Amino acid sequence: MLVLGIDTSCDETAAAVVRDGCLAVSNVVSSQVPLHRRFGGVVPEIACRAHAENISRVIARALDDAGTPASGLDGVAVTNRPGLIGALLVGVSAGKAMALGNDLPLVGVNHVEAHIFASALSGKDPVLPAVALVVSGGHTTLFLVKGVGELAELGRTIDDAAGEAFDKASAMLGLGYPGGPAIEEAGRDGNPAAVPFKRPYLAPDSLDFSFSGLKTALLYHSRGQSKRGRRGDLLPGVSVPDAAASFQETVVDVLVRKTFLAVRQTGVPRVILGGGVAANTRLREKMIAQATRRGVSLTIPDKPLCTDNAAMVAAVGCRLLAGGVRDPLSLDAHSRMTG
Ligand code: KG4
Ligand code: ZN
Repeated sequence: MLVLGIDTSCDETAAAVVRDGCLAVSNVVSSQVPLHRRFGGVVPEIACRAHAENISRVIARALDDAGTPASGLDGVAVTNRPGLIGALLVGVSAGKAMALGNDLPLVGVNHVEAHIFASALSGKDPVLPAVALVVSGGHTTLFLVKGVGELAELGRTIDDAAGEAFDKASAMLGLGYPGGPAIEEAGRDGNPAAVPFKRPYLAPDSLDFSFSGLKTALLYHSRGQSKRGRRGDLLPGVSVPDAAASFQETVVDVLVRKTFLAVRQTGVPRVILGGGVAANTRLREKMIAQATRRGVSLTIPDKPLCTDNAAMVAAVGCRLLAGGVRDPLSLDAHSRMTG
């Protein structure tokens, strides 16, 4: 089964062709980072316009790279939730046009679920049930995954998503946008123990996350102010690489601890990681180390499949289509995951 995937949920215009839900035969991602960089974050109006300008070309490239005409496809899968509503509508409209023009079945895909099933693109189906951590710019959520369309939420961030925290921390340290890769790069030579940030674990058995206090703590350190706003409390010898490495280590420690707490609480010894922050090398290393220590199986997508892409959308779409799911041409976009 050959499925075209489309994703325009945020700031990447993406299209891909996936065979049998597990092999990306093409994967085109047109990044808008240069357009948003000077604003320090994604500007929805700019994102929508860029998607509209790029989408036809990106889809044509994905088909061309895959060496198939649209008539050779078996279906179209498009992200229709959650995301920036105007951005989503561009992809949904393009998906409908492809389905209608080529007489193909259409299916709407949940972007967060797509991040989980990016793990299927390594060539083998993830064994389910599994605990999944989706950690991106918009989401930091733990799920118990039983199948496509069967996600039970175990915990989520009560304020900032981890990727959002990386982006804000990077801005504070003057490291630019997007923040995750910038913090990782800057922290490479830093001491992760230089700034002893308090780990925000919340209640001992809680699977929720909170990163806004950590961001505030970094603000005090980076500006040399105490909690009461006095200057001069910057820890001696703390450099930007030290602050970046310490911030990263703190976020990673919380993500790892909560994920394996979810494993303990559910009794499910399998973990799937997904989302842009899963491209972080330190997070990958610490997750692998814990999984090995505890005898838990761990699936992490290759780095380019962690950040937004359409191959992961086609991976979910393929499973939905194979299960007989079809959406009508009245398919709508939703800014939230449900509703
Ligand atoms: O999944 P994604 O591409 O888009 C959303 O669905 O949000 O995730 C983007 C987020 C951004 O916040 C970015 O800073 C973060 O993922 N990110 C990283 C890394 N690469 C991307 N965070 C930490 N380390 C990285 N290497
Ligand atoms: Zn995403």
